[in-house]
Amino acid sequence: MSKDNSQRSLLEDAARRSILYREQSVDRSVAPSADAVARVEELIEPMPATRTPDREVLELLDRVGSPAAMAMTGPRFFGFVIGGSMPVAVASNWLATAWDQNSVMHEVTAATATLERVAMNWMLDLFGLPADSGVAFVTGATVANFTAIAAARSRVYADVGWDVEANGLIGAPPLTIILGEETHPTVFKSLGMLGFGRETAIRVPVDRQGRMDATQLPRIEGPTIVCTQAGNINTGAFDPVADICDAVKPAGAWVHVDGAFGLWATASPRLEHLCAGFQAADSWATDAHKWLNVPYDSGVAFVRDALSLKAAMSVTAAYLMTESDFRNPSDYTPELSRRARGVDVWAVLKSLGREGAAEMVERCCQNAKRFADGLQAAGFEVLNDVVLNQVLVSFGDDAANRKIIADIQKDGTCWCGSTVWQGRSAMRISVCNWSTTEADVDMSLDAILAIAARTV
Ligand SMILES: Cc1ncc(COP(=O)(O)O)c(C=O)c1O
Repeated sequence: MSKDNSQRSLLEDAARRSILYREQSVDRSVAPSADAVARVEELIEPMPATRTPDREVLELLDRVGSPAAMAMTGPRFFGFVIGGSMPVAVASNWLATAWDQNSVMHEVTAATATLERVAMNWMLDLFGLPADSGVAFVTGATVANFTAIAAARSRVYADVGWDVEANGLIGAPPLTIILGEETHPTVFKSLGMLGFGRETAIRVPVDRQGRMDATQLPRIEGPTIVCTQAGNINTGAFDPVADICDAVKPAGAWVHVDGAFGLWATASPRLEHLCAGFQAADSWATDAHKWLNVPYDSGVAFVRDALSLKAAMSVTAAYLMTESDFRNPSDYTPELSRRARGVDVWAVLKSLGREGAAEMVERCCQNAKRFADGLQAAGFEVLNDVVLNQVLVSFGDDAANRKIIADIQKDGTCWCGSTVWQGRSAMRISVCNWSTTEADVDMSLDAILAIAARTV
């Protein structure tokens, strides 16, 4: 390696550029300019025949990629429920990436396996879930839902004497899936990937906030999985999971909770009532890359019956050292090889502690309320009960909403997305970035209200 191309100078250069990007993303336009996005085309070329110096690779990436990136990590991106990335999480992620550990087996990567075990125990404690649950560090809530429902599939079939891991679904006894009309699309996708089909579930009606009506659950007969939700992607509303558990668990049904962001409400003494009784369920999915503000990709599945999760996910081979007295990370995840994503989770939980996690979640919810109050005071209709971090606002008809949302995105002060809630078009504001302040909300409100005043 030549001096100019040395590892040290390359990594220092990357750190310098990354720090600059993150500092600038606080004040720059949240959306990149059209010119910057157009310049990404420069990257499209045939496979290079010859080498390019590493410094040039990084320089090109930064020159073209950084200006074209959406400032999702900044404090005024409210487009999706995604959070940002706390500095301690990014820093720990860099270090763990430098370690380059394939976190499959405790025997080989004891440090990262231990960090994951600690992070897992802290989350079980924070969420009030059974301490001996099986836990999987996966890429996101989609895969966390998939993983937990795979464990459910294993257990409810085993209960009727069918080994689904060995025999698959052909010839399997009938199995019923029950979920709410407002279930997140990734649960349907998970059901499709698990061989149940995306369209076969019984859909239970929901109320105006998107909560399942527990009185309308069908009678439970035979193997059954009920998929519930903590935090609706539009309204932030919570299914009555405790009532649902009371209704279906005596008949042997498995209850899964998709808590991609809502499960983090349990971190706050002020908000945990929203999740009261959720601990009675059998499995839970969440995202750390949402409200815990760690970098992508980081989701977590928790399963009360750890053995059913292992039955669905574990793999072994003569060359793998999976026979161990310790917890083997790969016994619980769809992946074999993977990065040590639990390290980022550990770092943020260590940095925040219980107190900091509660404060972060509460601050986001207070800022969501501030948005709702400001919009209502200006005469606009907020379509949801703002119980968490989600605000749905309508400025008028669909055409007005579309124009205002497009203008807000172009203006660059903040970034909000569109949605349709129970037949009505709306703008959706999700507050889950660790760095969003009241001043960011006020600056965003000023921009939103000025644009709306020009349009309606
Ligand atoms: C309730 C719910 N479930 C699942 C998901 C999917 O999460 P991911 O994109 O991390 O896979 C989301 C994403 O916003 C969500 O809000």
